[in-house]
Amino acid sequence: MKLQVKNGDIAEQDVDAIVVNLFEGVSKPDGSTHSVDKLLNGAITNLIELGEIRGKSGELTLIHTQGVIKPKRVVVAGLGLKEKFDQDVIRSVSGTIARFLNSKQINNYATVLHGGGSKSIKSKYAARSIAEGTLLGSYKFNGHKSKKSVQNIENLIIVEKDQAKIDDIQLGVDQGSTIASSVSLARDLVNQPANYMTPSHLADIATDICDQTNLKLEVLDENKMRELKMGALLGVAKGSVVPPKMIIIKYIGDPDNLDNNIGLIGKGITFDSGGISIKPSGGMAAMKGDMAGAASVISAMQAIDILSPKINVTAIAAATENMPGGNAQKPGDVVVAMNGTTIEVDNTDAEGRLVLSDAVSYAVQLGIKRIVDVATLTGAIEIALGKVTTGAFSNNSELVNQVIEAGKNAGEKIWELPTFDEYRELYKSDVADLKNVGGRQAGSITGAMFIGEFAKDVPWVHLDIASTSTSAKTFGLITKGATGTPVRTLVYLVLALAKD
Ligand code: BES
Ligand code: ZN
Ligand code: ZN
Repeated sequence: MKLQVKNGDIAEQDVDAIVVNLFEGVSKPDGSTHSVDKLLNGAITNLIELGEIRGKSGELTLIHTQGVIKPKRVVVAGLGLKEKFDQDVIRSVSGTIARFLNSKQINNYATVLHGGGSKSIKSKYAARSIAEGTLLGSYKFNGHKSKKSVQNIENLIIVEKDQAKIDDIQLGVDQGSTIASSVSLARDLVNQPANYMTPSHLADIATDICDQTNLKLEVLDENKMRELKMGALLGVAKGSVVPPKMIIIKYIGDPDNLDNNIGLIGKGITFDSGGISIKPSGGMAAMKGDMAGAASVISAMQAIDILSPKINVTAIAAATENMPGGNAQKPGDVVVAMNGTTIEVDNTDAEGRLVLSDAVSYAVQLGIKRIVDVATLTGAIEIALGKVTTGAFSNNSELVNQVIEAGKNAGEKIWELPTFDEYRELYKSDVADLKNVGGRQAGSITGAMFIGEFAKDVPWVHLDIASTSTSAKTFGLITKGATGTPVRTLVYLVLALAKD
């Protein structure tokens, strides 16, 4: 898709459709909507009077212009109540518009800058939101069907009449496009079936990304992991015939201050069968997406490299399958993690915390000063927060608040759950230092805190995306299947930290 920014009049664009907007409850529109309404002899105000246009968020009304103005059609997009208007409304409405027009094979259109007249949203951010919403809302997985799907949007022009705003709008579009590409990459990786998306394939993709950029790549193979004594990760990998990979991507944005850094660590189980504690067959196919954490940290690096913030970022993706087999680890086995901690593997399906324990120890050993791990860790998080909100867990209130704030700006909802010391009792083992499950109570918390044990004193946040990394339906900028959560939060976080 070509995304352009133009100084001019929306009504004069030579496109198949133009998009104007309306807040809920407004009967006499102003700005561009007013100008277009006048040219159409009051068609929009008529429809408002008739109650056909109400301005509700996501409401779209298509008006054919019959040659009265150059654009063939006008879409009036509802923005909802003015009080509730924010960047995320722009993203969501932009995604809905993109799919609406694309479904009518209208793939060349222009839009006003939603929120352009609003004082609370800067032009740059409004433009960024249109880019993110449009690109992500029209995302399609280029899957494995023999017949290629129909054409996507070709051309979108953001038209602004105030020349003074054009540079900011262009900056916003560039940033939004960069971020949307990263999110789309994450969606692609997660949507890909597990027979394609093996740990080695994931490492190959990381190699391609790094070859085209300034990012530095290191891939630890099984031998290297053995040398480093990553017993927890290797225990999970034992049941599979495909080799595990630890994928490390480094971005150096502040070379004079190497301690100004953050580590983004992702769970990369390319298929989670449960291992010997095997999962029920119904729904098991969804476990191809158990590498969404790894996908998000790898993808975020692509955007971070382009946006080049003044901070150092290391992504670590711990990739392996979790399979049953003659050589698989068994419930009751004891493994020794890289930092020497002994772990009783009570349930082989609680494998995410095992691979992450070694990835986190590795990050600590590298001298990482802030850790954010991202994992499809527990089914229990969906019971706690539904599919709306990502769960956050932390040992550091400053960092977790920064993550939550980045999520707010990015349009990804994150809520903190507690990590009180009392919960530690639940995952003590009779035979080892820790056991990898904590029983029925507080499943997401014990899973998170298990990982936190390996962060030691390093400020750490864990994001449980088991419920938010996929969506059962398409809406706003979300498309059915992988959501790409929390790539946007990670990128916004890194940009925000670089400012300090
Ligand atoms: N990958 C799963 C968690 C998951 C569940 C992700 C649903 C996405 C959707 C994880 O490895 C797992 O199996 N967790 C167990 C932990 C339990 C054995 C303590 C779970 O949540 O049941
Ligand atoms: Zn599992
Ligand atoms: Zn898993």
